[in-house]
Amino acid sequence: MAKNNKKSEYKNRGFIAVNNPEAPWNYVEAYKSLRTNLSFVSLDKQYRKLLVTSSIPKEGKTGLALNLAISLAESKHRVLLLDCDLRKPMLHKYLGIQHNIGLTNLATGERIESLIQEIPQANIHFIDAGVTPPNPVELLGSSLIHDAIDYLQTQYDYLIFDTPPVGIVTDAAVLSMVTDGVIFVIRQRLAAMDQIKLAKANLEAVNADIIGAILNDYDVSGTTKKGGYYYNYSTYGYKYKY
Ligand SMILES: Nc1ncnc2c1ncn2[C@@H]1O[C@H](COP(=O)(O)OP(=O)(O)OP(=O)(O)O)[C@@H](O)[C@H]1O
Ligand SMILES: [Mg+2]
Repeated sequence: MAKNNKKSEYKNRGFIAVNNPEAPWNYVEAYKSLRTNLSFVSLDKQYRKLLVTSSIPKEGKTGLALNLAISLAESKHRVLLLDCDLRKPMLHKYLGIQHNIGLTNLATGERIESLIQEIPQANIHFIDAGVTPPNPVELLGSSLIHDAIDYLQTQYDYLIFDTPPVGIVTDAAVLSMVTDGVIFVIRQRLAAMDQIKLAKANLEAVNADIIGAILNDYDVSGTTKKGGYYYNYSTYGYKYKY
């Protein structure tokens, strides 16, 4: 019984530590393979600032950003996870912590160092979004954010940015200009091809480096099975090599 409770706790929070014995194996293997693939993306360029987005809401961006951060931390990397969904911040909920001051407080004179929170259970550091500003795009494109990222990249091996859907608002496209690469999540049976194409075009318009796409919630059995442990991720596309 206790075991089941633990499992559902992880499931509800979408919190899968790679070395967590309670985590479903297909989850864990998918994250391990994503982590490995990332190190082979390119020999010429280092991908250390990774932005996670998708075309429409609810495709699994936040869950992926969190678990990618955890899996990189489990490989002994120093990882900072940033909630750049300033409109609808969710990472604090996934982490089970209070919504706190965060990125938007840079605009009110807060120093970037004071915004960093330690998440000991995941062995990562985290910056919350802060209070929703009237002008998220302007803030994300500002020198305040750019300077903060310049500083943060000297402190961490990886910066992982969770963002809103790029087919709906331009936040992720604007932020992609100061990151190394974009991981594009596509949840099967959710976004229409036109929406995916529009989102991709929005990223290409700012010359974003789309590293690859993650197919989330794909159907392995031929039957539609949502919930349970069918949180499948698969990597394909652009720069992944197998
Ligand atoms: N493969 C999956 N199977 C079942 N549920 C999933 C799967 N992937 C994500 N979910 C669920 O879908 C919901 C949205 O996930 P998540 O918050 O990661 O998406 P998002 O793309 O960040 O959404 P938003 O655009 O609203 O920020 C969550 O309740 C999550 O548990
Ligand atoms: Mg999200």
